[in-house]
Amino acid sequence: MNSFRNLFSRIRIGELELKNRIVLAPMATNYGTDKGRMTERQIQYYLERAKGGVGLIVTESNYVSFEGRGAANRLGLYEDHQIQEHRRLTEALHEVGTPVCAQIHHGGAIVSMKGVGQFPVSCSTIPILTRGEPYFGNIPRRLSETEIVNLVLCFGMAAWRAKESGFDAIMIHGAHGYLLNEFLSPHTNKRDDRYGGNDENRARFLIEVVESVRKKLGPNFPLMVRLTGEELFDGGYRIDFIQKVSKWLENSGVDGISISAGNYDELERMVAPPAFPEGYLSKDSEAVRKVVKIPVGVVGRIMSPETAEEIIKEGKADHVYLGRALIADPHFAKKAEEARKEEIRPCIVCNRGCMDRLMEGIDIGCSVNAAMGKEVSKRILPAERPRKVFIVGGGPAGLEAARVAAGRGHRVTLWEKSDKLGGTLSEAIVMPHKEGIARLVQYYVRQMEILGVTIELGKEVTPDAIEKIHPDVLILAVGAEPIRLGLPGANLPHVFLAKELLEGKTSLGPLVAIIGGGLVGAELAEMLVDQGKEVMVLEQLDAVATQAGYIVRKELLKTLCQKGVKILVGTKALAITGKGVLVERFGEKEVLKADSIILAIGYHPRNELVKNLDVGQMEFYKIGDCMKPRMIMEAIEEGNRVGFAI
Ligand SMILES: Cc1cc2nc3c(=O)[nH]c(=O)nc-3n(C[C@H](O)[C@H](O)[C@H](O)COP(=O)(O)O)c2cc1C
Ligand code: SF4
Repeated sequence: MNSFRNLFSRIRIGELELKNRIVLAPMATNYGTDKGRMTERQIQYYLERAKGGVGLIVTESNYVSFEGRGAANRLGLYEDHQIQEHRRLTEALHEVGTPVCAQIHHGGAIVSMKGVGQFPVSCSTIPILTRGEPYFGNIPRRLSETEIVNLVLCFGMAAWRAKESGFDAIMIHGAHGYLLNEFLSPHTNKRDDRYGGNDENRARFLIEVVESVRKKLGPNFPLMVRLTGEELFDGGYRIDFIQKVSKWLENSGVDGISISAGNYDELERMVAPPAFPEGYLSKDSEAVRKVVKIPVGVVGRIMSPETAEEIIKEGKADHVYLGRALIADPHFAKKAEEARKEEIRPCIVCNRGCMDRLMEGIDIGCSVNAAMGKEVSKRILPAERPRKVFIVGGGPAGLEAARVAAGRGHRVTLWEKSDKLGGTLSEAIVMPHKEGIARLVQYYVRQMEILGVTIELGKEVTPDAIEKIHPDVLILAVGAEPIRLGLPGANLPHVFLAKELLEGKTSLGPLVAIIGGGLVGAELAEMLVDQGKEVMVLEQLDAVATQAGYIVRKELLKTLCQKGVKILVGTKALAITGKGVLVERFGEKEVLKADSIILAIGYHPRNELVKNLDVGQMEFYKIGDCMKPRMIMEAIEEGNRVGFAI
């Protein structure tokens, strides 16, 4: 029997019946056209998730009027010509039996002035701060009551267009600090007319939108509203307000509530970093569920079928929304249902491929799923000519190349120098919040077994060995070496490489200096401070952990500061002595005392093998960090590309 019995039970949201309780969360892809039109790429992205077994697809936000569009390549439902285009999506999904809900939305203050050719609009003239600056550098213009009435009609018309396009349900986006949420929150709503001043007035715009939408849809068409649960920042609302709003929505004919979190002052609650526990919003959905009879869904770092099942089983929500987990693996639901959960490719909660790219205004991708947004061109199909492939190196690049090549029918052998697969990933998992990375390594190990890749551990390759194996294709994915600074004193016994620390080959004193404030140095600092060390990070540049995206970096830096890590930027290490590190700061030299010193300066590509290699006629590729040390996303992308190229 399936161990996720509750998750795979049917549920009704109004007139809509879902075959299971897993819903694709709405996620802007930036795959649309600049006129808000649906593209084939978008259709294939959704279709893949439908085939992957979800009970319901909720599309990314569709703007209801032009000045509400979040960015250039978002979807729109603000003009009638979009009906025809959206119908292509609904027909494709209905063909595979998956219902689809359109999210409708107005970006409010979170709209680029450049993108809409005017100041963004909101309830009040209040800056929305991100990175300490007004978002996009704008401060919104206050909407007049006449304009609000007009927008209420725009929401109604957008819902009507969605219904005409063949959608099975509508979700009104009332969360995340966009227009409707800006009205709901006392943090942003400073009005003293009928749309502000007290709870009822702040909810008035949303309720009027619901009434307008309901009128256009008719009494029985499934309608949901997405809300930010508790706002934890100063001046935000608390869960009792959202309980009240949910009741009002239920009384206004809404069929389901979807609980999310955050706004642009608190992005980390919207798209959580790895430090947040799985299912961290289920307490909010549970609170709402207590006061309404309609189904309540919840989102928020639900990364495993176990977490999803637990939320449903314990009555914390009626259904779950999965965002990044379904970017990473579109077939999550199917695999969970078929008791193949160890085949799920896990999201590593890095935000690099998805949220960071979205915020940069470009099409989204995924660090672990190179086929994200390329579902057709990256479909694994048999190779014309199966060949003998030899891969050297079992890090992410080599493993991904092996997965794709073996999936296409090539005979693949992979040699790894150490005693385990994963390369730098296996080293990283000892650091805090790396559960996703650990799952990723397990995923690849399982894939190698399923695909029959011949794995040889503890095997160091030589030109002779390659000659003997004589493969048709040779792929070198041998990774990178940590850099040991040419600093005086770098070879003293109390100086260690980050790699040695991760491998557990060190014994540290109570006061530790980390030279190098990249992502590795910053993450090591958290690990060491958790072990009771006093830690300082010395960085020559003026910022640390810059390889991490905005949300992950903000959370990491906050944690380091809260835990008392001393971060010294603009600090150049000149020499290491028995007492500590001689540095130059602000033009002055000083010795910073430390018992142990960790070098986290970075990596350089491993090149020795290539130098002595005569590849002759053999087809030969070099991928991953041995080309140039970079992040997981680039390594997997290169492995994937070569797996398809051969
Ligand atoms: C790339 C990206 C785009 C998103 N776009 C939307 C959106 O258009 N509408 C919306 O309501 N939420 C949006 N979200 C938030 C997700 O729906 C979801 O709430 C969030 O990713 C947290 O869920 P997760 O931890 O399962 O990823 C987006 C999230 C991501 C990562
Ligand atoms: S880019 Fe990172 S956070 Fe986003 S879905 Fe992929 S693995 Fe998850």
